[in-house]
Amino acid sequence: MAKFNLQALLVGLLATNASAALDGSRYLWYTSPATDWETGVLPIGNSRLGAAIFGGANEVVTINEDTLWDGPLQNRIPANGLAALPKVRQMLEANSLTAAGNLVLSQMTPPISGERQFSYFGNLNLNFGHSSGGISNYIRSLDTRQGNSSVSYTYNGVTYTREYVASTPAGVIAARFTASKAGALSVSATFSRISNILSNVASTSGGANTLTLQGSSGQAASDNPILFTGTAQFVASGATFSTSGGTLTISGATTIDVFIDVETSYRYPSASDLAAQVNSKLSAAVSQGFQKIHDGAIADASALLGRANINLGTSPNGLASLSTDQRVKNARSSFNDPQLAVLAWNYGRHLLVASSRNTSAAIDMPPNLQGVWNNQTSAPWGGKFTININTEMNLWPAGQTNLIETQLPLFDLMKVAQPRGQQMAQDLYGCNGTVFHHNLDVWGDPAPTDNYTSSTMWPMGATWLVQHMIEQYRFGGDLNLLRSATYPYLLDISKFLQCYTFSWQGNLVTGPSLSPENTYVVPSNATVSGQQEPMDLAPEMDNQLMRDVMKGIIEAAAALGISSSDSNVQAATNFIPQIRTPRIGSYGQILEWRYEYGETDPGHRHLSPMYGLHPSNQFSPLVNTTLSAAAKALLDHRVASGSGSTGWSRTWLMNQYARLFSGADVWKHLVAWFAEYPTPNLWNTNDGSTFQIDGNFGLTSGLTEMLLQSQTGTVHLLPALPGSNIPTGSAQGLMARGGFEVDINWSGGSLTSATVTSTRGGSLTLRVAGGQSFKVNGATYSGSIQTTSGTKYSITV
Ligand SMILES: *[C@@H]1O[C@H](CO)[C@@H](O)[C@H](O)[C@H]1NC(C)=O
Ligand SMILES: *[C@@H]1O[C@H](CO)[C@@H](O)[C@H](O)[C@H]1NC(C)=O
Ligand SMILES: *[C@@H]1O[C@H](CO)[C@@H](O)[C@H](O)[C@H]1NC(C)=O
Ligand SMILES: *[C@@H]1O[C@H](CO)[C@@H](O)[C@H](O)[C@H]1NC(C)=O
Ligand SMILES: *[C@@H]1O[C@H](CO)[C@@H](O)[C@H](O)[C@H]1NC(C)=O
Ligand SMILES: *[C@@H]1O[C@H](CO)[C@@H](O)[C@H](O)[C@H]1NC(C)=O
Ligand SMILES: *[C@@H]1O[C@H](CO)[C@@H](O)[C@H](O)[C@H]1NC(C)=O
Ligand SMILES: *[C@@H]1O[C@H](CO)[C@@H](O)[C@H](O)[C@H]1NC(C)=O
Repeated sequence: MAKFNLQALLVGLLATNASAALDGSRYLWYTSPATDWETGVLPIGNSRLGAAIFGGANEVVTINEDTLWDGPLQNRIPANGLAALPKVRQMLEANSLTAAGNLVLSQMTPPISGERQFSYFGNLNLNFGHSSGGISNYIRSLDTRQGNSSVSYTYNGVTYTREYVASTPAGVIAARFTASKAGALSVSATFSRISNILSNVASTSGGANTLTLQGSSGQAASDNPILFTGTAQFVASGATFSTSGGTLTISGATTIDVFIDVETSYRYPSASDLAAQVNSKLSAAVSQGFQKIHDGAIADASALLGRANINLGTSPNGLASLSTDQRVKNARSSFNDPQLAVLAWNYGRHLLVASSRNTSAAIDMPPNLQGVWNNQTSAPWGGKFTININTEMNLWPAGQTNLIETQLPLFDLMKVAQPRGQQMAQDLYGCNGTVFHHNLDVWGDPAPTDNYTSSTMWPMGATWLVQHMIEQYRFGGDLNLLRSATYPYLLDISKFLQCYTFSWQGNLVTGPSLSPENTYVVPSNATVSGQQEPMDLAPEMDNQLMRDVMKGIIEAAAALGISSSDSNVQAATNFIPQIRTPRIGSYGQILEWRYEYGETDPGHRHLSPMYGLHPSNQFSPLVNTTLSAAAKALLDHRVASGSGSTGWSRTWLMNQYARLFSGADVWKHLVAWFAEYPTPNLWNTNDGSTFQIDGNFGLTSGLTEMLLQSQTGTVHLLPALPGSNIPTGSAQGLMARGGFEVDINWSGGSLTSATVTSTRGGSLTLRVAGGQSFKVNGATYSGSIQTTSGTKYSITV
């Protein structure tokens, strides 16, 4: 410990003046450039465009556009699926489990195994002619509360700076490069891409100094590939510009500004519209100039990011004044840096604002498995929208951290996918309504993915995604959206469920279906005994999801003033008692499957059967203590057997234990996340490598769930505070369902004061920690309060 502190002190003393001023809860910063994309780049984005910045003397900026995927829409409807469906169901009912699974794989999986994959645009390479050996005073940083990033260093006595922003209002990425000495800045710039480049040229014609790369997703022109164009336009008064092939050289500059846009045929099928879009965004940006674009980008991002804030106390021993890579390294072996947890919380919100905005585009895309940051022609796992946990996890921080509008792009994707889901429902299940399986791509392709037994055949993707639409109403109170989008969508899914489910032992059940990505051992009274299988009837999570869809219809109808005797409301009401209730097994656990099958992977990373605990409320200790105890039994068993084996799984555990009000366990899994999963640039990884953004969002959500919960309709302050780890702290601007904005102070591990601001009136039910007594506006709280919109309520103990 002494040695560790000494090291911390030394590195702290060596830090530059600039870095010493950087708040360790807010900035990621480094004293050297990134050397590897996944472990070093700093990400910024305006939702549609992403940029990942290396920060070297030979600068590389990887650029993404969220509709740049690797091909056109595919028809992946399994032609023989519908005919096989009744046979599969008969086999499942007869406990012929292996044969049923095999029939699904041979008849119900699509002819093309996977969806399209998220691709990258390419790299902008900027050679400043500085040899890295001659560089001093190097620092690069990312401001998680404003979304900008910069690099600065000294070379040959001249200070060079580079600042980057991604502007949502202007729709471009912009950068400014400066030298402290007039005329000392020169750069050779070029775009590069691994493959499928159609043209790559530098130009100075007409006074516009540009690089333009055009490319394709690679299919033959007759197969309708996605086409794209990206342009970087450089502005540098007094400098000399020249071109050679795809390289633009600028010399003798003092300041160089660059504006970047990429557009694709996904949004602009006509080539002339696409070109016009690039031109109009860039000419508008150039005429505004860097300073205005920069200030507008920062004002826009900080208006969202500034709404909420948390403080978990000061890290000891100057730990928070170390560079971020040092802190991540320290946190691997011992975690004692609550400000690093806050930095990760802020980073999750930055990543969400940078990848999930309602822009002026007709269709926005939510963050995929890599957010909007990927450096390859096909991202890991296709960079898909994996909707059996990962896409949902990406949006968990939205409501609770006061960024509810970041969910809107998800609803655009759902709108794109809905007609495909309706076609799939007809062709594969003979039903009206909408069905998605466990992935979507940019085209909303909802077909089963792969031919892989433990994930492919899960027809519940839409039932989970639509929960985010209901949450939009609960947090934001937008009745128009509830009426025009959410309610019809819920009814469409309900229509599917009413048709798709079938009667088994007195319940309406799903099948063939599975418990995402897990398998069981076929018991001795079924065939083939001893085999590992995933498919079954009525996996427990499906029941919980269906219950939430039907309850959502009833809740939405009530909010919209639709009568409870309306036929749709009646259908939902009648459906609920027909859903199979949770069964409890031999060690008191929620049963994951229809029977208590043997487990093949007791520490499985997915926590699907505990969906009722988090993100849903069905198993909340405030709702049903029998079910919460059973969920806890299965959760504890999963953890004891090694669950949390991916970064996102570990952060789901944080959220789950927060819902059991166990702050110590939340902190334990936070520490375990830091021990294994983050890269030096704080990206979540799958297993120590391979960037996957979901865990970043799951962590932000999990930390917030310690401080505020509202899933049962009660505004619950400090429900799961790990008081011995973070005895003193505060939060401002967190949001509870019902539209209550919450500020909280705590010390000595318990609440000292809070305010709740009602943003839309309504009844306020409060709870503090484990149910202690408290006062509201000085009077002892004795039950729900009718609030007035715009009014603050002061809570004291
Ligand atoms: C993308 O990043 C990975 C991980 O950092 C790296 O191994 C790979 O070479 C990069 N690919 C390209 C095309 O730069
Ligand atoms: C899926 O795999 C099964 C064997 O597991 C095979 O019979 C079937 O043809 C495959 N389906 C497709 C569409 O490739
Ligand atoms: C972000 O912009 C602000 C100006 O609003 C500037 O002071 C700051 O240095 C920038 N930060 C980074 C990390 O680029
Ligand atoms: C999303 O943005 C569009 C275009 O700016 C705007 O018209 C629309 O009202 C926004 N949607 C919501 C729900 O705020
Ligand atoms: C599906 O909808 C169509 C048109 O509304 C209707 O005619 C048909 O009966 C419905 N089919 C099923 C299976 O409900
Ligand atoms: C078959 O075995 C399972 C698992 O042991 C058990 O739960 C189920 O009740 C048995 N079914 C019958 C019909 O005996
Ligand atoms: C809790 O859930 C169990 C199982 O579904 C049910 O039998 C019981 O009635 C529920 N208890 C309460 C208080 O709702
Ligand atoms: C929290 O404490 C600070 C500092 O004492 C105070 O300014 C603030 O009003 C408090 N907030 C609440 C919600 O009580």
